[in-house]
Amino acid sequence: MKIGVFDSGVGGLSVLKSLINSNFFKEIIYYGDTARVPYGMKDKDIIIKFSLEALDFFNNFNIDMLIVACNTVSAYGLDSMQRQTSYPIVGVIESGVLSLHNKVQDRNKKILILGTKATIQSNIYAKKLESLGYKNIKSLQTGLFVPLVEEGIFSGDLLDSTFRYYFSEIEIPNAIILGCTHFPLIQNEIKKYFYNKPILIHSGEAIVEYLTKNYKLKEMHSNEPKISFYASNNPKAIESYAKIWLKS
Ligand code: DGL
Repeated sequence: MKIGVFDSGVGGLSVLKSLINSNFFKEIIYYGDTARVPYGMKDKDIIIKFSLEALDFFNNFNIDMLIVACNTVSAYGLDSMQRQTSYPIVGVIESGVLSLHNKVQDRNKKILILGTKATIQSNIYAKKLESLGYKNIKSLQTGLFVPLVEEGIFSGDLLDSTFRYYFSEIEIPNAIILGCTHFPLIQNEIKKYFYNKPILIHSGEAIVEYLTKNYKLKEMHSNEPKISFYASNNPKAIESYAKIWLKS
């Protein structure tokens, strides 16, 4: 099976890593819109426009499925994208919510959702969780983590003070949804900040669970898939990030 993975930039590498490890796929085409990242600070209409333009890119590749690794695109662009294609397009939000639902049965547990400004303003995670009966949900924009992670700041003083800035008023949650591609890179630090108490929902792991359940995908290949990286600006930079992100 040949799939596409779309992200606003390099962040989708965190999802790509899980997709590679799943051994589901023979070939993966990764495309990051690095010329126009970040999407997380932009308005709904422009996010939808960019998301639809990404489909033009994938038209050249005859893919069997498209994974939208970006939470921001999954929040706003997914429905419009799905209307335009004959192949399935799977985003990370539905899968993240279902993964949480599998892991947290008690609807009174405290759930913290982290994401970009756009994802949090869409309120999509909270609405889906509420519809499943969860009552104790807090959503938080933590956009500063995006440039920190892209700078390779995965620990240390700067990250610690950003944690204090965002989390000082937040009660220790039972579960945290890492609702942005970049946050898995600092997941251990986030967990540590909350005394290792919360369970974390990682978009990449969640989508693999989702594909297993909903698309009946199985381990098919013992070798790594063939991966090609494309970007709207500086594709070489994605390959350099991949060397770090696919390992950490
Ligand atoms: N990929 C985006 C997300 O998961 C983060 C980077 C951006 O703002 O474009 O929401």
